[in-house]
Amino acid sequence: MNPEQSTRPFLTAEQLRAFTDQHRTVRIYQDTPIPGEDLEAILYAARRAPTDATAQLYSLIRLVDKNLREQVAELSGNPHLAGAPEAFIVCGDLWRVARLLAHTGHPVGHYPHAGIHFAIGDAVLAGQTLLLSAELLGYQGCWVGGVLNAVSEISALLELPERVFPFAGLTLGRPAEQPTQRPRLAPELLIHQDRYHKPTPEELDWALSEMAPISRRGDWGRTLARYFAPGGTMEQRDGPLESFLRAQGLGR
Ligand SMILES: Cc1cc2nc3c(=O)[nH]c(=O)nc-3n(C[C@H](O)[C@H](O)[C@H](O)COP(=O)(O)O)c2cc1C
Repeated sequence: MNPEQSTRPFLTAEQLRAFTDQHRTVRIYQDTPIPGEDLEAILYAARRAPTDATAQLYSLIRLVDKNLREQVAELSGNPHLAGAPEAFIVCGDLWRVARLLAHTGHPVGHYPHAGIHFAIGDAVLAGQTLLLSAELLGYQGCWVGGVLNAVSEISALLELPERVFPFAGLTLGRPAEQPTQRPRLAPELLIHQDRYHKPTPEELDWALSEMAPISRRGDWGRTLARYFAPGGTMEQRDGPLESFLRAQGLGR
């Protein structure tokens, strides 16, 4: 392939914006399976995602068994993991690379922090490439961080070996709901130039008003507090996650 062919644009900037604006997280799907040809193309795209050290520090567990799906859905508190045409658990995987080292006669290092850092990166890159590719084919999906609500139990059901951990679930299908587009922060608050810009109180107020529609009461601060304030979802998940990672051989 000559270089000109390989960098040929597929979309104009305008088309890219139009495609971007179609994205919605969708949790209710039509009851039609994703044809094999589409699924293979989506998974091919996921496998072609960039990867740290070309090591591919992730695994995707496709949930097929109905009973298993229902259990994972129940444990994660996300029923669409049971009902979606396709559902995956996207995992960071430091086991395979350790096996490859052992298999080739090399000792395996201990690097839980760097390992988790890059394994999450690889898992997210593969998972989001999968989702974006599916969206290009007219599907929509939903990431499911709720797997952290029962990380040990779900990992046991999936028989994850040591050094493998679930990052999130991912569901896919043809949408059967049309949510309104959810807001995002303004570029000024997300994209910095040269140095980190700490938002002023006025910019924080702006952020809260831009994001207000995401919360039922129009109070994004309150929504964030449910996750990030003391006793919130994040603190509730943190201890069990730390114990789970230690049990998986990924603790200090
Ligand atoms: C890492 C991650 C975890 C998420 N976890 C859940 C979840 O457990 N359950 C759920 O219904 N949605 C989940 N979502 C979907 C978000 O709520 C959704 O992306 C966000 O509200 C923005 O909406 P949009 O994607 O339609 O713009 C998750 C998204 C991400 C990226």
